[in-house]
Amino acid sequence: MTTYLITGSRPYGGDATDILIADGRITAVGDSLSAPGAEVVDAAGLIALPGLVDLHTHLREPGREDAETVETGSRAAALGGFTAVHAMANTDPVADTAGVVEQVWRLGEQAGLVDVVPVGAVTVGLRGERLAELGAMADSAARVRVFSDDGLCVSDPALMRRALEYVKAFDGVVAQHAEEPRLTAGAQMHEGDRSARLGLTGWPAAAEEAIIARDVLLAGHVGARLHVCHVSTAGSVELLRWAKARGVQVTAEVTPHHLLLTDACAESYDPVFKVNPPLRTDEDVAALRQGLADGTIDAVATDHAPHAVEDKESEWAQARPGMLGLEQALSVVVETMVETGLLDWAGVADRMSVRPAAIGRLAGHGRPLAVGEPANLLLLDPAHRAPVDPAALASRSRNSPYAGRELPGRVVATFLRGTPTVLDGKATR
Ligand code: DOR
Ligand code: ZN
Repeated sequence: MTTYLITGSRPYGGDATDILIADGRITAVGDSLSAPGAEVVDAAGLIALPGLVDLHTHLREPGREDAETVETGSRAAALGGFTAVHAMANTDPVADTAGVVEQVWRLGEQAGLVDVVPVGAVTVGLRGERLAELGAMADSAARVRVFSDDGLCVSDPALMRRALEYVKAFDGVVAQHAEEPRLTAGAQMHEGDRSARLGLTGWPAAAEEAIIARDVLLAGHVGARLHVCHVSTAGSVELLRWAKARGVQVTAEVTPHHLLLTDACAESYDPVFKVNPPLRTDEDVAALRQGLADGTIDAVATDHAPHAVEDKESEWAQARPGMLGLEQALSVVVETMVETGLLDWAGVADRMSVRPAAIGRLAGHGRPLAVGEPANLLLLDPAHRAPVDPAALASRSRNSPYAGRELPGRVVATFLRGTPTVLDGKATR
């Protein structure tokens, strides 16, 4: 295995120093390190952070390999600075058995660019009728700990309660897509003045908040872990704050797009901005940023949702919801949280690596940049600014909401257990 000497980077944005990597681990951190035979990576001016961990990635394999594969999604993830991604279960077939989650896990190992951690479905076929084989998925080679019907809500409260009881036995967590379906039939965008003016059916904030309120009560009652996916409203942040103050074991994530974009994007009728939950108001965006800054929201998760051209470039009402996120996630967080003074670099590491790894119970990720730790890390050029070019993305799909938008920061290198998956801003495989 090649030894790497990373010179002059600033761990967590602090003072410049050198980092030595050998045999998959960080073996030294300090000034003017020398290591004969090591490959030198000049990282002057770059920020070093632990490899990012995504709790919410749609990789589309098996079933929609025309939109993304485990390999292309893994490459997009590595280029975004990620060393681990949780692959959502809404594939075809659905990841609701040990067989399917092991298949996804193996494909991730073969691609070898990030650790692909399969999420198991909560219910058979995401149908919301009966529980999937949660225990068998937990015991499988994929060692599933996060379960979600994402894309759909586990809306039956009795089934949700049973799922929470079940995962508690093996320290799992139910990641809920909070959307009361009876309140969102036909919904196209955030319900408010704009949806009325644009003539699009609205998705009320209350549809998300009602499920979160219900589920934190259930999680508290059962004593199990609940994770709330893609929180999008100010009211949801308030509910989470309340539940955490009461000692409920609840964690939550926010997406980069909900930190940056608003329902004003729908004025264009460009379906690239159609997403579920929908883009909300300026007030919601401000509350989400504040919630992430104060830790009420634990993590940033991408909800990277690649879609083929025919599913996205149609009329708004026909288009599938979802947008790409992996390659721009860190840049969006730099713009919305770092450049605004809401988070420092250690805070970014906490919300994008440490806490998501803890929620997913990933032992080798989210570790400090320190001697003896697994060498999972990224190097970021914070001064770089460039417009996003969808044609240049590694994802197989092109539905980036940031097309043409100038964003700060560029991932120059990513290391997975001491092996570079990205060098000079390019994937190594
Ligand atoms: O916008 C979304 N797209 N939200 C979801 O919950 C699912 C996802 C997808 O699978 O495309
Ligand atoms: Zn979702």
